[in-house]
Amino acid sequence: SEEELTSSTPSLPPPSAHFVGRKEDLVQAKRVTRLVGGRDVLVLCHKGQFHAMDMRCYHSGGPLQEGDIEEFDGRICIVCPWHKYKITLAEGKGLYQAVNPSATPPKPTWRSKGVKQRVHKVTEVNKNVYVTINDSLDPIDSDFYQTERYRTTMNKA
Ligand code: FES
Repeated sequence: SEEELTSSTPSLPPPSAHFVGRKEDLVQAKRVTRLVGGRDVLVLCHKGQFHAMDMRCYHSGGPLQEGDIEEFDGRICIVCPWHKYKITLAEGKGLYQAVNPSATPPKPTWRSKGVKQRVHKVTEVNKNVYVTINDSLDPIDSDFYQTERYRTTMNKA
């Protein structure tokens, strides 16, 4: 299909994509925040791979741009600096450790709460980097921290 052709050999950014920076600048900066289509988005480069997600943590609005990147159970996550919630870079899933009390000794395992943070699509075209906002209508927890109401409260604080 036409779509497959464009995604395999892109020469133009997708129509709804927003330019967020030149690749070499973003690689060097490692992470930047941008207002994209009315949302505050964190764009980060980890091991040569770009990721984009809502900037404020789904739990309580923490600044993910200040979070560490760590791997849990083989999944690369950003760790929110406020209460250490772990969010997968690829899907925005919230991970937590569950302990099975009937196991001896009780053995913690990593589980997912499902998608909690809205992640956005990153496209590279001619050494430029673009973000396409994930406009899926299904509500995602991090949406709350992108609302006008929340921003107004933040600015007054
Ligand atoms: Fe991110 Fe609480 S605000 S873990």
